[in-house]
Amino acid sequence: MILLNDVKKSYRTGKEKHGVLNGVTLTIKEGEMVAVMGRSGVGKSTLLYILAGLEKPSDGSFVFNDLNIGNLSSSEAANWRKRHVGFVLQNHALIEEKTVFENMALPLRYSSKSKIEIVERVAYLLKELGLENQGDKYPRQLSGGQSQRVAIGRALANNPDLILADEPTGSLDEETEATILNIFKKVNKQGKTFILVTHDESVAKVCDRTVKMKDGLIIEI
Ligand SMILES: Nc1ncnc2c1ncn2[C@@H]1O[C@H](COP(=O)(O)OP(=O)(O)OP(=O)(O)O)[C@@H](O)[C@H]1O
Ligand SMILES: [Mg+2]
Repeated sequence: MILLNDVKKSYRTGKEKHGVLNGVTLTIKEGEMVAVMGRSGVGKSTLLYILAGLEKPSDGSFVFNDLNIGNLSSSEAANWRKRHVGFVLQNHALIEEKTVFENMALPLRYSSKSKIEIVERVAYLLKELGLENQGDKYPRQLSGGQSQRVAIGRALANNPDLILADEPTGSLDEETEATILNIFKKVNKQGKTFILVTHDESVAKVCDRTVKMKDGLIIEI
């Protein structure tokens, strides 16, 4: 269960304080698939960063399964994230010096999985994501859509409870988008919670519900 209670986030630039989230209250049940929509700059990515424990609310609270994430130290938050969260960032953020295989294996290495487990899990994900034979390539040798799928594979690798994705199908053609959505749906059916930021109605359509944001607030659920 995710509880956001009156979450505010502001950034200071010079003397000015700029409110990005102005009191977001939202409950998301385990296993739900939720789309977050809204114009550029309304605070969607900021909300995801808070849900990932990468940013703390300036005010209000984010509670995940009875744990107040805003109260954790940054190393505790990093540990929590490693165990529970998969994040597909708005820019794929793959590691250029590592192969596709190694990029996907990263979360598994961090959680000290055995070599065999890692090889099997990554091979499975490569196949599911239509990236067989791409494991040895480096990110610069991939198309935009392939990079996006690698980032998705990396987010799913550790079997997280909560998957956050920022425009995960932004640069994909319709067919690849449908494939990705099918994979998300399949993972979601296994009980995983999904929160997807999207501008795309066809992505929102496969979700259980849509949350619309405006000026750092939720205006419609
Ligand atoms: N670290 C930061 N420091 C200062 N301002 C920030 C920071 N991060 C975000 N902002 C500002 O907060 C506002 C919301 O940013 P955010 O990235 O959450 O928007 P968004 O809804 O994801 O937009 P888009 O659809 O374009 O990705 C923007 O005005 C942005 O400039
Ligand atoms: Mg954004």
